[in-house]
This record gives sequence, structure tokens and C-alpha cells, in this order.
Amino acid sequence: MTKTIDLTLSVTESPQALARHAAKIFVERCHDAIAQRGEYNVALSGGRTPTLFFETLALSQFCSGIPWEKVNFYWVDERCVGPDDQQSNYRLAKEELLHKVSATHFYRMKGEINSQDAADEYESLLRRHFQLSEGEIPRFDFMLLGMGSDGHTASLFPGYDGIEITNRLVTDQYIREMEAWRVTLTLPVLNNARACVFLIQGKEKHEVLTKALNLLSDRTLPAQRVQPHNGKLYWIVDQDAYTG
Ligand code: 6PG
Repeated sequence: MTKTIDLTLSVTESPQALARHAAKIFVERCHDAIAQRGEYNVALSGGRTPTLFFETLALSQFCSGIPWEKVNFYWVDERCVGPDDQQSNYRLAKEELLHKVSATHFYRMKGEINSQDAADEYESLLRRHFQLSEGEIPRFDFMLLGMGSDGHTASLFPGYDGIEITNRLVTDQYIREMEAWRVTLTLPVLNNARACVFLIQGKEKHEVLTKALNLLSDRTLPAQRVQPHNGKLYWIVDQDAYTG
């Protein structure tokens, strides 16, 4: 069977331009999704890179035309901390975007409870919200992703079993190097998205980016495994990450 990877690589001159470009894609896809299906289902990653994207998306030039009541926010992954913790991906999005645009539909992973319970609970929430029958996978409209210098994405890290899990929508992972638990969507959910959007910035990402963008080699990095089987794959990178 022919496999097509619908990949768009955009190189922006600055992190600010990267955020604006990503916001533009978010808005375009939002209007399409709502026109076609009446809602826009978004999954957000955390870390440092999304901050500028959230701030930019909250600017009136991007957010003013969006019917935020039709946008449902979920999370790609979460650190196992409370919702007000500085490490929380939910807290970051809430403060930098959700509260600024008065979003009303957001569903966080509960980092404050036992990680297995949080994964089970989120899996049930996804099945309910997307009205999934057994074996079905939720299809997000916009999956915001980053990549660590080790090639991890979401909380799917190289050398851990999470990347190979196919019988769950959500799993928990203990990351030894971080001495921390994480809750994360699994690869089948990422690859079922209508759009996976990687935001990569900074010189420190240049080396891993050169590996990650080599989609033909043996794909050992979790980020390389993100190839939506019926969706678009956007790699939006700034000049520093691209040229090193
Ligand atoms: C997280 C993220 C994670 C992130 C990468 C890149 O919870 O940390 O979901 O997958 O996207 O670690 O993070 P930076 O954007 O900070 O480089």
C-alpha cells in the first residue's frame, strides 16, 4: 500500500515569526473544522516553546474571529504535578491563552492524582467526549507538539515503552532521567490527528532536528514516528534550529 506523508517544513526567521506562522495555521484550520464539523478539537503540549505561540494566538489579530465556545482544548501530555505548579502544562496554557481568550471548554489531565489513575481517567474522558466505540481512536484537529533534544515528543521518550503502546489512548510513564511521572497520549492518537504541528526553536535543537527530519532512516526517535496516516504533518522551525 502506498504511504504518503503530507509534510510541510517551514523555516521562520525568528521565534516570533514561528509563533505567528503557527497561529495562522491554527486559525485557518479552526475555521475549516468548525465549518465542517461544528467544533475544533485541539491537544496542547507544554514545555518552553509553546509560550510564545499561546501569547501570539491570544492577540486580537489572531483570536478575535474565533468562536472560542466551539473550541475544545485537551492536552497531549502532563507532568504529574498539581494544576497550579510551575511545571504544569495546563497552568501554562491557562495563563498564557485560555484565560485571555475566555475559553470555556478545556479538559486537563489530572497531574495531582496517581499517574495510572490519571491516565485511565483521561482515556475514559476521551472515549466519552469523542463517543468512541471499542478500538476507535480520537481524531484531533490540531495536535501541538514539541521535541526535546533527545528526540522525545509528548511524553514519549526514546528507550521507554510508551512509544510502542498501541492498545491505549493514554498512558503514564516514569522518566528516570527526570525522576518524574508523566501522563501522555500514545502514538496511535498522535498519528490519527488531522494535523500534527511541531514547533521547534533554538540552536540547541539543530542536531536532533537533522535526525528527526530524516524520515527515511531507521526512525529511532519518538518524534520521527509521528507521521499522521491521514493528516498533515507540519514542522515549523526557526532559523536557529534549522541552521544551528
Ligand atoms: C512537555 C512537552 C514536551 C515538549 C518537549 C520540548 O511536557 O515537556 O509536552 O514534549 O514538547 O520537551 O519542550 P521545549 O519546547 O521546552 O523544548
